[in-house]
Amino acid sequence: MEKKGIAEMFSNMLLYEFRNVVFSFGQNLIWRRELIRLSRGKLLDVGTATAIIPSIYRRGPSVGLDISLGMLRRAKRVCPLVLGDGEDLPLKDSSFDTLTVAFTLRNIPNKERAIEEFYRVLRDGGRLIILEMKLERWNVAGILYSLLMVFLAPLFLSSFSDYAYLLKSMLNFPDDKKLKGMLERAGFRSVKIKVFFPGITRLIYARKCTG
Ligand SMILES: C[S@@+](CC[C@H](N)C(=O)[O-])C[C@H]1O[C@@H](n2cnc3c(N)ncnc32)[C@H](O)[C@@H]1O
Repeated sequence: MEKKGIAEMFSNMLLYEFRNVVFSFGQNLIWRRELIRLSRGKLLDVGTATAIIPSIYRRGPSVGLDISLGMLRRAKRVCPLVLGDGEDLPLKDSSFDTLTVAFTLRNIPNKERAIEEFYRVLRDGGRLIILEMKLERWNVAGILYSLLMVFLAPLFLSSFSDYAYLLKSMLNFPDDKKLKGMLERAGFRSVKIKVFFPGITRLIYARKCTG
């Protein structure tokens, strides 16, 4: 799916925040709390959608960025909101202490380019925190989750192709080893990955290191 189609799909999603709770069995709150616990200083949230992360972050100023104007129109007015692409951030070099990107990286076609951009806008020592869902083809949790989506997705998505796209994006997301390699090639260090039960959602933490 092209970037324009992805942006439209998200802005057409019904009951967006409720959908997150249903598809994560309420665990999305725990995952985001862990992301907030690791965040410090001035924060940029890429793929902010309705600005849930800026709305619960208290350790400094935050900025929310999203490629979808429709999504930003639905965002909570808690911080400055920027219309922009994760692959080409309209922001200055070394201007943030933390960059969060939750359930968004798998929607960005050129992940290497986006990771380079994340590195560029972070200050030296800055923190990159990624939350993402990865489905393994022959994993029991993955198969059960795909079936759950078959039944629930029609309640929130406008078409079957949107459902197919979301499932494919989770299957195609790089595995932990590959993602770690991508982050290290961009210059990130201290990469740590925490996989939440039952093995679909992971939190990836890395620090920008210029030395
Ligand atoms: C699943 S939602 C994000 C959820 C949000 N981060 C949260 O914690 O609730 C994915 C968001 O990424 C945005 N997005 C997709 N591609 C993007 C890109 N290339 N650059 C920036 N945002 C993008 C979509 O418009 C959508 O709002």
